[in-house]
Amino acid sequence: MKTLRPLLLSLALPLATNAACSITCPAPVVTLPPQASPSSGPAKAGGPSDGGSAPFKLGQLAKAAVRTDKGTKGHNYVEVYERFILQWKNDPIKIFEIGIESGGSLIMWQEYFPKATIFGVDIDDKAAMSNARVKTIVGDQSKRADLQKAIDISGDDIDILVDDGGHTMEQQQVSFGFLFKFVRPGGYYILEDIHTSLPELWNGYGVEPDRQNTTLHMIQSYMKSVPPVFKSKYMLPEEIKYLNEHVEYANLLYRTADRGITCIFKKTAQ
Ligand SMILES: C[S@@+](CC[C@H](N)C(=O)[O-])C[C@H]1O[C@@H](n2cnc3c(N)ncnc32)[C@H](O)[C@@H]1O
Repeated sequence: MKTLRPLLLSLALPLATNAACSITCPAPVVTLPPQASPSSGPAKAGGPSDGGSAPFKLGQLAKAAVRTDKGTKGHNYVEVYERFILQWKNDPIKIFEIGIESGGSLIMWQEYFPKATIFGVDIDDKAAMSNARVKTIVGDQSKRADLQKAIDISGDDIDILVDDGGHTMEQQQVSFGFLFKFVRPGGYYILEDIHTSLPELWNGYGVEPDRQNTTLHMIQSYMKSVPPVFKSKYMLPEEIKYLNEHVEYANLLYRTADRGITCIFKKTAQ
């Protein structure tokens, strides 16, 4: 397993193995969806909200994120994620995450979503972290055959799909191209740690000298092109076509404090 370790920031910030941020992180500047009430969330076949009785307060995801670098001591992505996902807090949603490590995010998802079923995929065997609501699967995210086997187990109609795996350019883009079609309409695909596209800070993730292959370049080019189209040497033409037709928005978050970058892709309703 590769440990994310920023080249330059390691001199300036006391970042631990999981890039824990020891300084106070500022509020992110992103476009957030309106804070939804349970009843205003996207309609989900087979996953009805249980109404408005639950306390939909922000901050609970951060409280559950104590053992993952998504939390306040790491990249603090959860501060933003929660605004997108709290509308499904008490729904029986399906979460699929690539990258388990010591299981910190699996614990977070279980605590935050009491009715969710969670599928975790890792190149290493993490069976010890399976339980009644968590199913762990062994697979390499850069291999479509392995991803298909994982989907055969999880099924499609995934509400939240997170890539927090190996973070190489190939892994990120193969997984995004292959797996996006298994996200349900209106669901989210979260592609984490896109800062590995910046070799000045993070080296060893497959960035080519001209940088045309980076995941950050892929997303920024998508945003800049007219019409918006994805380009990726790692994806099949039909995967690119599907993405072009089914990404409703790409919300790219850059956190100044630790240079962390993540992107939330929302799938169209159809
Ligand atoms: C950053 S850790 C995951 C952390 C976890 N999501 C959390 O927040 O607590 C990355 C994990 O990705 C796994 N990984 C690395 N390369 C992979 C690959 N090609 N396919 C699947 N998993 C991979 C590693 O074994 C490691 O457990």
